[in-house]
Amino acid sequence: MHKKSKKVNFEIINFEKIDSTNDRAAEMVENEENFCNKVIFSKYQTKGRGAGSNNWQSEKNKNLLFSIIICPEIEVQKQFYISKVTSLAIIDYLSQNGIEAKIKWPNDTLVNQKKIAGILIENSIMGQSIHSSIIGVGFNINQKSFSDELNATSLAIEKGTKFDLIKELNSFLTVFEKRFNLRKNKNLDLLDKQYLKNLYGTDKYLKYRDKESEFKAIVEGIDNFGRLKLKDTTGKERLYMFKEAEMINY
Ligand code: BTN
Repeated sequence: MHKKSKKVNFEIINFEKIDSTNDRAAEMVENEENFCNKVIFSKYQTKGRGAGSNNWQSEKNKNLLFSIIICPEIEVQKQFYISKVTSLAIIDYLSQNGIEAKIKWPNDTLVNQKKIAGILIENSIMGQSIHSSIIGVGFNINQKSFSDELNATSLAIEKGTKFDLIKELNSFLTVFEKRFNLRKNKNLDLLDKQYLKNLYGTDKYLKYRDKESEFKAIVEGIDNFGRLKLKDTTGKERLYMFKEAEMINY
């Protein structure tokens, strides 16, 4: 059973427990007619998915686990803007709470080098444009302890107080909507600039690993396809798709 509520221009569909909010959202896109601007929110996931083949771990009733379904009318070549909008909305939301955060390309948000949120975007494409986009967000809110290998933090750890999940979800959706409208109004240059400004690794050489070697590099930017542009210490430019290179020891 689920309850419906509406505070922002998204309809929030609440679940106590679900396999994965992204999977439920994909079922809605597949089987229902009106799926745009719906948000699937659950207090617990039994099969939460992370990027690649990772899973997403979250203690029961502690964190925000949700998937926003949007119908963005965006060309396939510009799909990384969905990720930019989402990452910047997470940065905005944290900044409203007095927390400075950085985007670790392509899915993570870091606070003091620890992960506070992750995104998993799954687009369905029709012809040359995005038919629907499922934006899955796992946001650590009230969880106080994480296993060491996760290297994670939460809003409660950073602020020393507990938060109301639904209230925080509504605050997040409000900033998300503002960011999303910037994209709709074709303010893409501004989004590019702000994304780069908030990207981790643009101001110092960090260690990376690709399938051939380990090397030190600085982030130069992201191209239209969402590929990471690095410059290594020899001055060589390198371009990577997700999972082709990873930052180590950040
Ligand atoms: C990552 O950093 O690896 C991405 C994590 C995304 C997790 C969220 S939690 C809500 C939504 N449902 C899922 O199964 N995954 C995403």
